[in-house]
Amino acid sequence: MGHSSERSSLVGDLVRFLFPSDYFNPKKVDEAYSEQLDCLRNVGFKVSIISLEVLASGSAKIFPTPEQGETLIYRGWMITPDDYSCLVNVVKDAGADVLISDDAYLATHYLPNWYPLIRDSTPETRFFSIDDDLEHGLRELGWSRFFIKDYVKSLKTSVGSIIDEPSAIRTVVAEMQKFRGTIEGGLCVRQVEDFIAETERRYFVVYGKPFAALPDEEVPAIVEECAKRINSQFFAVDVVERRDGCKRVVEIGNGQVSDLVGWTAERFATVWAERS
Ligand SMILES: Nc1ncnc2c1ncn2[C@@H]1O[C@H](COP(=O)(O)OP(=O)(O)O)[C@@H](O)[C@H]1O
Ligand SMILES: [Mg+2]
Repeated sequence: MGHSSERSSLVGDLVRFLFPSDYFNPKKVDEAYSEQLDCLRNVGFKVSIISLEVLASGSAKIFPTPEQGETLIYRGWMITPDDYSCLVNVVKDAGADVLISDDAYLATHYLPNWYPLIRDSTPETRFFSIDDDLEHGLRELGWSRFFIKDYVKSLKTSVGSIIDEPSAIRTVVAEMQKFRGTIEGGLCVRQVEDFIAETERRYFVVYGKPFAALPDEEVPAIVEECAKRINSQFFAVDVVERRDGCKRVVEIGNGQVSDLVGWTAERFATVWAERS
């Protein structure tokens, strides 16, 4: 696999960041992303917005329109693979291209795709379809506790995401459907490890080089290892300390749809400027 951490050949002034628009005003950036847009523009990147709501209808437009030959980097809410494909098409129709292709989007967004690359660094995981006999499947694993999420997100409300009785899987799935609207992809059943929650940190890997939230903060070896093994131009690595002192990867995320978590928008923009 392997991945070079050399600078990409992308030239900064050919890179444009693409943000979601305000729900009611397709020419205004979604408030949640306005600070990031400002910071990226301040360090010299071009920026545009797109209405996510109309992606599927095929009528989505990019404001301002990208220029021919530009490379666009989406930065916004998690979107479905279908919506992401639509976004890629809108970009290509404008004569530009995306940094992260449809396949590359899912390579770091969906747990079953990144898991095999770093299985020694993250809790053991089994994958199920929503139509499987889940209770039976969990019983067969014989684990004492189970961490449950779909391919992208865990349940942070109500019953939560950790169960000790296989029969409780039905409630978790029902709650996921209720609170998140859908189960994306399928189910991931993970071994529960003794994580010290407050030690969790997010790192971004940009063109193969990992960065921490603070400029003088050390990047753990486990993140360097992820940067070598995961061949994606832009992804996030969440690392937590286990009670025994071992560092573990909680999850990999597609950088385009990962929250800043502990990062300032300025730092995020600076890292991109440094790599472009
Ligand atoms: N296998 C696990 N064992 C114990 N705790 C976990 C495990 N996986 C995740 N967690 C805890 O649950 C939180 C949410 O899990 P995560 O996989 O990051 O889901 P999400 O995609 O919803 O953020 C993590 O920040 C971590 O504290
Ligand atoms: Mg998480």
